[in-house]
Amino acid sequence: MKISEKLLQVKEIYKTYGEGQSETAALKGITLDVFPGEFLGIMGASGSGKTTLLNCIATMLKPTSGQILLEGENISSFKGDQLAIYRGSKIGYLFQEFELLDNLTARENIILPMSIHGEDPKKQEVHLQKLAKQLDIEEVLNKFPSQMSGGQKQRVAAARALISNPSIVLADEPTGALDTKNAKKLMGKLSSINQTEVATILMVTHDANAASFCSRILFIQDGVIFHEIRRKVPGETQNAFYERILTVMAQLGGGNNNVL
Ligand SMILES: Nc1ncnc2c1ncn2[C@@H]1O[C@H](COP(=O)(O)OP(=O)(O)O)[C@@H](O)[C@H]1O
Ligand SMILES: [Mg+2]
Repeated sequence: MKISEKLLQVKEIYKTYGEGQSETAALKGITLDVFPGEFLGIMGASGSGKTTLLNCIATMLKPTSGQILLEGENISSFKGDQLAIYRGSKIGYLFQEFELLDNLTARENIILPMSIHGEDPKKQEVHLQKLAKQLDIEEVLNKFPSQMSGGQKQRVAAARALISNPSIVLADEPTGALDTKNAKKLMGKLSSINQTEVATILMVTHDANAASFCSRILFIQDGVIFHEIRRKVPGETQNAFYERILTVMAQLGGGNNNVL
């Protein structure tokens, strides 16, 4: 795959929940591309459609209409093994609430997806050690989730999302359940893995601080993308980018979308 090629293409996605009186149009024609190596953020208020969009990409939800392509292949055409490979190793998912299995250690939680796919245990261990170092979770590998802090749990969940070397990591409000210090630490680690390993990340969030680690941000409101900003490289500091994000959010809050 050439670096200029689109990794993920979302084309005119609509998603409506329910019928008749209880009908909710959550996504109203979302189109976006993700390029290899990008750290793309999608920002929007609660209820704007962020989770719906990620779950459509993850094939947990079926869009009402529209197409989603990963590496040029239409994901809605995947069946059987192809679908299992897509869910198990092409995408990695990082949830707000960690979603670790309580009766497994950190190590077991992380390698679980690899074990399912029959990966070579030696290779697994090398990759596990590397990720544990990058994410600063070496000391908790043999602990159970109940023996870890929230920050450690989320970094273990990040290792689980990355262990299969997925084409793309989908992160849904990954800092939502963390305090400021742990949120910063997680974002710093994800950002450095994004840069050193050329891992592609698509993160939805309503946290401007978390979003300031992204290379590009799309803003979503009521199921529609209405604005895009990109961190200027080189030169724009993370702080300056953060200020720019706040400006967009303030204008959004003031209902001045059309001035953007
Ligand atoms: N399973 C569902 N059934 C009905 N409506 C839903 C369901 N999930 C989400 N919605 C509605 O769709 C809209 C978008 O929700 P969601 O994608 O969860 O937004 P976000 O993640 O940005 O908070 C909201 O109005 C929400 O109430
Ligand atoms: Mg959500």
